[in-house]
Amino acid sequence: LDREGLAIIVIGASGDLAKKKTYPSLLSLFADYLLPRNVIIYGYARSNISSEQLREKLRPYLTKAVNDENVIDDFLSRCHYQSGPGYGDSTSWQHLDKEIVRFEDEIAHAKGVSKVNRLFYFAIPPNVFAETGEAIKTSCMSSKGFSRMIVEKPFGKDLESCKEILARLGKHFDETNLFRIDHYLGKEMVQNLMVMRFGNIWMENMMNRNYVQCVMLTFKEPFGTEGRGGYFDQYGIIRDIIQNHLLQVMCLLCMECPNKLDGIDAGEKIRDEKVRVLEAMNPVTLDEVFLGQYEGYHDDETITNKDSNCPTYAAVRCFINNPRWAGVPIIFKAGKALNERKAEMRIQFKDAPAGEFLFGTKVPRNELVIKLQPDELIYMKSNIKTPGFASAPIQSELQVQYDTRYFEQNGVSNPDAYSRLILDVLRGKSAAFVRSDELIRAWEIFTPVLHRIDRENVRPHVYKTGSRGPDEADAWINDKSGYVRNDDYVWYDGNIC
Ligand code: BG6
Repeated sequence: LDREGLAIIVIGASGDLAKKKTYPSLLSLFADYLLPRNVIIYGYARSNISSEQLREKLRPYLTKAVNDENVIDDFLSRCHYQSGPGYGDSTSWQHLDKEIVRFEDEIAHAKGVSKVNRLFYFAIPPNVFAETGEAIKTSCMSSKGFSRMIVEKPFGKDLESCKEILARLGKHFDETNLFRIDHYLGKEMVQNLMVMRFGNIWMENMMNRNYVQCVMLTFKEPFGTEGRGGYFDQYGIIRDIIQNHLLQVMCLLCMECPNKLDGIDAGEKIRDEKVRVLEAMNPVTLDEVFLGQYEGYHDDETITNKDSNCPTYAAVRCFINNPRWAGVPIIFKAGKALNERKAEMRIQFKDAPAGEFLFGTKVPRNELVIKLQPDELIYMKSNIKTPGFASAPIQSELQVQYDTRYFEQNGVSNPDAYSRLILDVLRGKSAAFVRSDELIRAWEIFTPVLHRIDRENVRPHVYKTGSRGPDEADAWINDKSGYVRNDDYVWYDGNIC
């Protein structure tokens, strides 16, 4: 680590993403000695503020990430800021380049460090990706190490706009230096999927159409647009969550086993398998979509279209047409302003055949639940004999609770998704980033229905803020998936009842 230097350039440094996610994640890496000690961080944006003002703006967000003022001070002393009239302004980028070169010379003289890499974090809207990329390419590439770009969604609004963004950046940088973040790929439980799926013989054998009734991927958030209405109203929940985060998770959950994981092309092998899942899916049609909008959506002053039908809740049914999954409904469900924060993968298995004739009653179905957040949890709803004198089957669970098993009890760290992903970029690991063909295929699946929803201004079902979603949603989902809910099941939260 000390033999290499690193210059990180956070583009859009004064924005929301940068202060809430990018800088705190960089700090976490710094605090864990996962960034080179010879690191400098330049923020670039249009706001006319000083480096000191940026530091003060960042500080409250940093204290949430790391509880050590000395480390934060040390980190902030490496953070500088430069403003410019626009993201493509070549004079500003030339100036930034000079500053970085000065840093490179300094560490070369003082510490004999000759390799200095550059990491550009695009925390900016996609409409300025192209001019930014072009300016970096002409004025700010490293001559002493790699120059890697991290870009964030939205990667367009549909297939066409996505292709345009891909082409604009692709003109300047090849795929090996472009890292498209989907931060769900950095979450512990999503990173866990490779081992879960292919390191357990029971799971590998049961994850197919012979045993699985349906697969559900759920995202719930307890708050609405909250000042992000300008963005959200243009995109809606399918583009914001389902087409990227949930689809990505589904690919890893349902893909075939890649041939190998080690070696230089591990990332390609995994992504090849993900693309194969997407290629086996048909474009979604309108009758496979259920839309909702929470009451009071238009009260957010950042939403200018007061008649907007923008969906804040959606359920979507898809199928993967391959031998493993043919006929198994895959349900995506995502909503804002709901009753809780939760993201999970849920696999409901088919009825146990002996249930009815052996016990005189159907036993509840097994369900494997992998919960991503707010806490990490894996449980398999399984039937056991009612403990004690009774003998009837009841549903219980086999479970791993990460907090008590690892994080709290054994002090295992649980880095945030962005820290994990930024570290991957520094290490040149591409598996957890979205390749351009994945992105194109993802848009091919969703663009026709999104266009139809926009064109026909489809009216969403209204639901109450803080509810489970529209009243009709559960029935729609059960009907589309064959999911059977066991109302007798009592969730055990780990406390003695
Ligand atoms: C973002 C969406 O990509 O993910 C937001 O744009 C959403 O609308 C967020 O709130 C959710 O991320 P997380 O990690 O909090 O589940």
